[in-house]
Amino acid sequence: MQGKLQIMDFELKDMRPGDAVAHDEQALAMLLGRDDTGAAFRRQGKGGAALAALLDKARKSGDFGGRPGELLGAWGATGLNAPRLWLAGVGMAEPKDLRHAAAAAVQAAQRSGARTLTLCLARTPGAARLMSIVKGAADAVYEYTTTKSAEALKKAEEKAPRSKLTRIVLAFEGVDEERARAFARAVSVARGVELAREWANRPANHATPTMLADAARQLARRHKALTCEVLDAKAMERLGMGALLSVARGAHEPPRLVVLRYQGAPKSAAPVALVGKGITFDSGGISLKPGAGMEEMKFDMSGAASVLGVMQALAETAPAINVVGLMALSENMPGSKATHPGDVVTSMSGQTIEVINTDAEGRLVLCDALTYAARFSPRAVVDIATLTGACVIALGGVRSGLYSNDDALAAALLDAGEAALDAAWRMPLDDEYAEQIKSRFADVANTGGRPAGSVTAAKFLQRFAGDAPWAHLDIAGTAWKSGKAKGATGRPVGLLMHWLLAQADAAPAKKAAKATKPAAKAVKAKKAAAKAKK
Ligand code: BES
Ligand code: MN
Ligand code: ZN
Repeated sequence: MQGKLQIMDFELKDMRPGDAVAHDEQALAMLLGRDDTGAAFRRQGKGGAALAALLDKARKSGDFGGRPGELLGAWGATGLNAPRLWLAGVGMAEPKDLRHAAAAAVQAAQRSGARTLTLCLARTPGAARLMSIVKGAADAVYEYTTTKSAEALKKAEEKAPRSKLTRIVLAFEGVDEERARAFARAVSVARGVELAREWANRPANHATPTMLADAARQLARRHKALTCEVLDAKAMERLGMGALLSVARGAHEPPRLVVLRYQGAPKSAAPVALVGKGITFDSGGISLKPGAGMEEMKFDMSGAASVLGVMQALAETAPAINVVGLMALSENMPGSKATHPGDVVTSMSGQTIEVINTDAEGRLVLCDALTYAARFSPRAVVDIATLTGACVIALGGVRSGLYSNDDALAAALLDAGEAALDAAWRMPLDDEYAEQIKSRFADVANTGGRPAGSVTAAKFLQRFAGDAPWAHLDIAGTAWKSGKAKGATGRPVGLLMHWLLAQADAAPAKKAAKATKPAAKAVKAKKAAAKAKK
């Protein structure tokens, strides 16, 4: 099924707009800003004069002013070789506007039935602008088809041919090594986003914990830099993962804990650990959810899917860092063996948990995965989860909720989110919030009532975070869209990749190894001391 992923060929071409329009391109979209007038192209290449005339005419008429969101089709324009030409407005070329213009151009090209689309830039872009264009184009290209019948797909294709577009060329003057690298990275990140979207979109009966674990294994088979280990229920029992197992009890489908390891730096370099919530279906368990909209709970494994996407993007971009990706996979179902509200379960950390509400299952699978993550002596741990409806109420679908016990880590993640057009917003972790999750029957309760529901969930996780700097991304509002455009977004693959690549760029492999060795030793010493105490 993975062969169906549609990400197309992306190519970079050193070419001026005036040359591009004279070239025999099937479809050409010129990304033009408020200040781009015909004069810039007039003496450029074979088609410069024609392009300049067209642009000036369009500007004069008022039909096109380079404003963001504008898209003007100029079919068969005189003096131009490209049969289909669009002028796409990008305003002041802000990354968001570039993303939007690229997406609009791709949609127009898809409707036209062209096989190749050239996106042509009037000015040489920097890395951030390049990334935004690739992101906009790739996001628009992806279409979910996996569980549609071949017949229905064929019919849809006849009506409106969109899958003919298989190649996107990005053309501008001044392609150099640095830009080529930024472009290649952006394409790999886009492919990681697509992989995350695809798995998150698949219904629960087509994306079980077993299937997701198999996808992780396959991914590792395809990439030398990745290794994959899968823990089953028995292994979890041996490890004492009573919290994760308590979620799986009511389901027929067995749970899995996937450990994907990417090694791009020496083994001695402490890894970053990513931990994804992977509830392949969240019915709520015995604390059953209401029926309306419950089908959207197939998306409750979006955190795990984003980890899968990031691991693929890492393998493709090969940065000099080490990363461990954990996927905590289970269904949450109300079978006869299901955990009852009020049950007390024992987590791998030894802490006991009163399960007030079986619908607060994400924190239960994550707490054991977080404890397990500490085995890798990580230098930072980030968990990613569609954790709370309360976060949707707080931040909607615009920003993910970010919680962290470390200011530097929080700042780095926030920066990455801004740069990757995948923004987050920092939320509080005051200890006073922990009052709400006190339990009379266990060390901690798994819910804290309605007030600040996203914060109390984070406070719960914080208890299991270990010694390394930790951050938690609540992506309940951002991982998928509801309504007419229902579907997974692939967030926060962009944010995470931006953060990880920035780290690799900042600290070359050898340095990282030297810097982290003593730290790893210190952690080990600490652990030994703790053991001795017990
Ligand atoms: N997966 C849900 C959170 C969720 C809800 C994500 C809606 C996206 C949209 C999570 O497992 C859950 O059910 N959380 C409960 C917690 C409550 C019982 C304390 C919630 O948010 O209602
Ligand atoms: Mn739930
Ligand atoms: Zn859930």
